[in-house]
Amino acid sequence: MRVAGKQIALFNTSEGIRACDNRCPHEGYPLSQGSVSNNCILTCNWHNWKFDLNTGENLYGGDKLRTYPVAVRGDEVWVDLTELPYAERYAGVVNNLHAAFNDHSYDRIGREIARLIRLGGDPLDALRLAIDWSWQRMEFGWTHAYAGMADWLTLYDEFFDDDELQLVCLLESTGHTAFDVLREREYPFAEEATAFDEPAFLAAIEIEDEAAAVAMVRGGLRDGLQFSDFERAFAHAALAHYNAFGHSLIYVTKVGNLIRRLGHEVAEPLLLSLVREFVYAAREDKIPEFKCYASALADWGKGSGIVPTADRWHRRGIDTALSTTVACSGAKPETLYRELLVANAISMLSYNISQQDKVHVSVSGNVGWLDFSHGLTFANAVRKQCTRFPELWPQGLLQMACFNGRNAAFTTPEYDAACWISDDIKNDLRKITRQLFDHGQDEYIVSIHLLKTALAIREEVRELPAHQGEVLVAALNRFVGSPLKRKHTRRTAFQSLQFVAKE
Ligand code: FES
Ligand SMILES: [Fe+2]
Repeated sequence: MRVAGKQIALFNTSEGIRACDNRCPHEGYPLSQGSVSNNCILTCNWHNWKFDLNTGENLYGGDKLRTYPVAVRGDEVWVDLTELPYAERYAGVVNNLHAAFNDHSYDRIGREIARLIRLGGDPLDALRLAIDWSWQRMEFGWTHAYAGMADWLTLYDEFFDDDELQLVCLLESTGHTAFDVLREREYPFAEEATAFDEPAFLAAIEIEDEAAAVAMVRGGLRDGLQFSDFERAFAHAALAHYNAFGHSLIYVTKVGNLIRRLGHEVAEPLLLSLVREFVYAAREDKIPEFKCYASALADWGKGSGIVPTADRWHRRGIDTALSTTVACSGAKPETLYRELLVANAISMLSYNISQQDKVHVSVSGNVGWLDFSHGLTFANAVRKQCTRFPELWPQGLLQMACFNGRNAAFTTPEYDAACWISDDIKNDLRKITRQLFDHGQDEYIVSIHLLKTALAIREEVRELPAHQGEVLVAALNRFVGSPLKRKHTRRTAFQSLQFVAKE
């Protein structure tokens, strides 16, 4: 039967008459065509989902089925279609979303968020819940999922008048978070809280004492500190080393946006998880390739007055990239920044993509698009944090040079920016932004790199003169428009054999 646009199915079971939505919550096929077994179990014959008609519980499949109370009065069947109170419906959606989240059931996550929106709930609750369900399950702290959430939120706000695109933002953020904690247990944080003290906090991070650093953030929050009160310490912690391939600093720029947009309730989960990321971050300045980083930092300001130009870094290895940066350190940091940024874009424009197809390479040759995109996303974070805390420019700029240097061996001498842009780079950026919503990438790690690189470049282009902005957009277009090989079956086999042979 159809009531107020709703199709209700009635079943005459051995336990009495039962009523439920006729649309299967899986893909909407009619449940009236389903089969009812003796114990009041309804099977949807399309994909075999099974429901208990007494409660609506899902016994096989995913979502619950909406059932309705039935009363038989004489030869009349009465179905109570009264809506449940808001709080009950909201709790039901949250329960279902949690189940979908725990299974990383992408389509179901999409449906549950759509239900939350239809119900009139705050759509951003999906993200708050995703944080709540994940922050203690990220064993090593922040992942791209949280950073991506901040970027998706930027697009969510930008496309405020498009329900479908907004749902993409929520679905991708929630889905990515679910994926990153799939089958993970909880790794609880220390419960202690002590007063926040910046030097002591930085010292705790330095000696990888998560409990002490966490206690100080807890204490700070207890004492009413806001993210802005922690931000300098976090930026210093992130740049204290060439940390986590630049991610630590990128995350510092994202956490503030997330807290601002989602509210203070996400501050503790996100900040504690970020502390954990600082503690576990790889400190690549300690490996031999980057041994010149410490001396370059010590020599900062002893520039020989060289004027920075982006081409100075093209195809220069780490040592030269660092010494060139020091030689230019007499220039204004903003000027040096722009040239290093463009240098990183030139790296991306000249990435030798045939590297992706090489089989017989050592692990140090496992260099792909994402290594190049990091030079740019990290740069974006450097500009933001070093503008706020100018004492960090030397670390930020030298680490940008590290990206240039480490990628140099995988670039070609020639590159062509002009063939990768149209005559309207603003339009190019708009097109790429729209493409992000239908990226088609199976791996979150890839889609999130497309997203964060595109958003970083959009922001940087606004800060640059046109001729430099064009280089960035060309690099982005080349990244988006080129083959991206992620799985290297033969290379992995080759490297495994090589590795084991040396054991
Ligand atoms: S539509 Fe019912 S199980 Fe798929
Ligand atoms: Fe990354």
